[in-house]
Parts: sequence; structure tokens; C-alpha cells
Amino acid sequence: MVRTAMRAVTFAWTGFVASAPGLADVAVEQGRAVYDQTCAVCHGPDGAGGMPGVPDFNDPAGPLSKPDAVLLKSTIEGSTSPGSPMAMPPKGGNPALTESEIMAVLAYIRSRFGAAQRK
Ligand code: HEC
Repeated sequence: MVRTAMRAVTFAWTGFVASAPGLADVAVEQGRAVYDQTCAVCHGPDGAGGMPGVPDFNDPAGPLSKPDAVLLKSTIEGSTSPGSPMAMPPKGGNPALTESEIMAVLAYIRSRFGAAQRK
């Protein structure tokens, strides 16, 4: 009895941390659409990156180990690592994206590919 209750509490807490319900869920859903339309072509449906120079979002030492502010800036402005065969275009090549859409797509990327690295 007590043990069942404990498990329920633990489960509820884990669920809260992992999926951050409410407003954040809405952002993640919006971000999924942006990712599929604009980002998946280079970053791949699994976030692993299908081309040389595209980093793996699932790599614990990869881009998602950086703070949100850094990722927001490099996604808006684009980025190229020295010697890389490919650049990340500003806004993923879609100038129509708003800052809130970019925050949403980063929330999606973190929730989908970075969950295992978040503490
Ligand atoms: C034309 C291919 C391409 C598209 C489209 C693209 N990316 Fe990238 N992205 C890259 C490459 C290449 C890098 C690595 C850049 C580097 O070497 O610094 C990268 C890196 C990143 C990084 C890591 C930045 C960092 O600071 O390490 C993030 C976050 C990212 N992309 C998000 C996105 C999002 C969000 C979208 C869609 C809105 C997107 N990308 C669309 C090619 C692409």
C-alpha cells in the first residue's frame, strides 16, 4: 500500500520533470512542426544528423550540453565550426521563423533528443 503510493508519487514527479506539462507542452508541440519542416532535412528525424558537419543532438558532449542562450543565438544567427564542411544557416534557412518559434523548436529538440542529458 505505502509502496504503491510512493511509486505513484515518484512516477508523477518524474513525469513532471521529463515533460514539463502545461505551457511547455504547447511549445514542444509547436516546435515539433518547425523541426519537421525546417530542421530535419539536415539534423535528421532522430537528431543524429545525416551529413558530414552536422552534429549529433544525442551526443552527451554535443550541442545540447550548451546553455539555452548559446543555442538560441547560434540558431538565430547560424554557426560554423572551424574546418567544418557545412554551416548551420541562420534560422535553419527559414527567415520567416519568429524568436518564439525558435524557442519552441529548441524546447522540442531538448525534450526529444536531450532528455537523457538533463539533470
Ligand atoms: C542546411 C542544414 C541545416 C539546417 C536546415 C539546420 N541546421 Fe542546425 N546545424 C547545421 C550544422 C552544419 C550545424 C553545425 C554548425 C557548426 O559547425 O557550428 C548545426 C548546428 C545546430 C545547433 C548547435 C548550435 C551550437 O551552438 O552548437 C543547433 C541548436 C541547431 N543546429 C538547430 C537547428 C534548428 C532548430 C534548425 C531548424 C530551425 C536547424 N538547426 C536547421 C545544419 C543545419
